Amino acid sequence: MDIRITPSILNADFDDLANEIAKVAEDSDLIHLDVMDNIFVPNFTFDFNAASKIIANCPIDIDVHLMVADVDRIGIEYAEIGSTSVTFHIEASDDPKKLISEIQKHGARAGVALKPNTPFEVISDLIDLVDMVLVMTVEPGFGGQSFMEDQMAKVSQVRAALNSSSRDIWLQVDGGISTETIEIATRAGADTFVAGSAVYKSADPAQMVQKLRALALNQLNNLK
Ligand code: DX5
Ligand code: ZN
Repeated sequence: MDIRITPSILNADFDDLANEIAKVAEDSDLIHLDVMDNIFVPNFTFDFNAASKIIANCPIDIDVHLMVADVDRIGIEYAEIGSTSVTFHIEASDDPKKLISEIQKHGARAGVALKPNTPFEVISDLIDLVDMVLVMTVEPGFGGQSFMEDQMAKVSQVRAALNSSSRDIWLQVDGGISTETIEIATRAGADTFVAGSAVYKSADPAQMVQKLRALALNQLNNLK
């Protein structure tokens, strides 16, 4: 199993994103881009135009996390413009199977996200289709919130389901991931870690990415 660290730029300086991304690009697997529409969540980040520019200029792969209501339409648009991975919330989609196949048709990996109150069972019939499952470890909408350890049972449920598939499906956690919590999430079965404030509030973002990766890898080796 590989470990992926995907820094979220939500807490980076939006006026200097090129430089903020450059700080972590060499050490990170993908950049996590949080798109919020102020409808699905009570916060707004980028419209499609602004997000397209970030994606086009990003020196490494982009992992788009869509927290938008109109995701059955918008999800396809993000796949079309070269996102490596497009994740939508199951709570927002009317036709998740179709959306997964449309995202994949455009060459992107398709991810499905679960809010803290959404149980695993809601997506169990999608495991054979998706490329990533995102278990939120905070209520989506804002960076800097506390890690919800009570979501680890769900992470373990997803891990058990993924282990019975031969496909390369990633298990991402997002919210409150730091040097204090990444080992807990790794033990529960996560392999792909979003970290926003832990990385960008650190004095040395690149070194923080390295630290997080080392902690997760070490924990993974202990599990073997
Ligand atoms: C929250 C976003 C996260 C956020 C994480 O809704 O999906 O990606 O940036 O921030 P931290 O790591 O500070 O919890
Ligand atoms: Zn996110």
